[in-house]
Amino acid sequence: MFVVMLFNLVSSLNVNKPYVPDMKKRILMNKILLYGGVYPTLSGLAVPYLMFFVPKTKSGGNSQFALDRNGNIIGVEDWIDSHGINSRSLVQGLDGDPSYLIVDDNKNIKDFALNAICTHLGCVVPWVPAENKFMCPCHGSQYDTNGYVVRGPAPLPLKLQEVSVNENKKITISKWTKTDFRNGLEPWWLK
Ligand code: FES
Repeated sequence: MFVVMLFNLVSSLNVNKPYVPDMKKRILMNKILLYGGVYPTLSGLAVPYLMFFVPKTKSGGNSQFALDRNGNIIGVEDWIDSHGINSRSLVQGLDGDPSYLIVDDNKNIKDFALNAICTHLGCVVPWVPAENKFMCPCHGSQYDTNGYVVRGPAPLPLKLQEVSVNENKKITISKWTKTDFRNGLEPWWLK
């Protein structure tokens, strides 16, 4: 009797026929797959792909705080107190480039900074107080106190950057977009 019941049960399960979910279940599973897997993956790929076609500006951001070697925002009073008159000292400027802040003879920060990247082949140009010049150690280019070329092979003056002090007395460096006062020309870095 038990064997007959078991046989009937197994027969009713129809084990030889493969299980096929009904249409509702299949539609539901397709939706889960689509919304949970395909769409997020495609969106994750699409954003960087589309960003590839967005042109970058020539020098990235246009303005940022001047940062010291530890990445701290520089306050103008602290900076002047800790740097002598007629000093040229490096900070992190636009795009993280090394830039010279200048303290003038009256203990004021100059309204321009100089990007320290040599316009010949990109070495960082040290300030040499004894010579009163920026002197590139790589191929001997020299720049005057305002970053203007006085000896090649550097073809162009150092980039100017605008310096301002905000209401919290923090120093901001911005892209220089005015005429280059050293030669009266349109800045070469805007071309
Ligand atoms: S990189 Fe400065 S002179 Fe060549």
